[in-house]
Amino acid sequence: MKIKIAPSILSADFSALASDIKRVERAGADLLHIDIMDGCFVPNITIGPVVVKHIRRVTSLALDVHLMIKNPQDFIDAFIKAGSDMITVHIETVSALQFANLAKKLRRKKVKAGVSLNPDTPLSKIKKILKFTDFVLVMSVYPGFSGQKFIPSVLSKIKELRRIYKKDISVDGGVNAEVAAKIINSGANILAAGSYIFGAKSVKKAIQSLRNAK
Ligand code: DX5
Ligand code: ZN
Repeated sequence: MKIKIAPSILSADFSALASDIKRVERAGADLLHIDIMDGCFVPNITIGPVVVKHIRRVTSLALDVHLMIKNPQDFIDAFIKAGSDMITVHIETVSALQFANLAKKLRRKKVKAGVSLNPDTPLSKIKKILKFTDFVLVMSVYPGFSGQKFIPSVLSKIKELRRIYKKDISVDGGVNAEVAAKIINSGANILAAGSYIFGAKSVKKAIQSLRNAK
């Protein structure tokens, strides 16, 4: 499977967001990972649909919108309208039925539907709804902040998921060149990375080092 790199703008300079986004776009990013936090599901607050709408205007990268919010069903239309290409909902925030309904709506609107699970959430929680998804986003840190350390025990979760799931598997949190090889070898093919990419002297080299990790 093709390895895709998704820089997370949580580590970008929000006062110079457009230029930071263009920087990773020029450097070969495949997707733009946008972290939406509500101060309720996670202990941090970031941005909402209005910023996504403006980001949509300054980049042609696919927008990979990671919703870390309670009641995602109340906001999904706004994020679709803002121009998201992929939307991830946390399984901890919805019932299986709610997820199925959200995913059907996303697919009708040609937006890819993803489900995410926290490091402590077992795969059994998403097995029933995998058929409604286009990708799974495996959290490798507790969501809320950039710059945390990768939790190695999620590697076995990625391997187990890959055995039963043929579509895209994304990994988010603490991704750097050191752990990227293990993540890819475990079967994931999308790497979301914030501090490693935006903190690098050369974002291009950082992206390449993730893509070529084996
Ligand atoms: C964490 C976010 C991640 C985060 C990644 O809650 O979902 O996308 O920004 O940042 P790093 O790569 O620095 O862990
Ligand atoms: Zn994220």
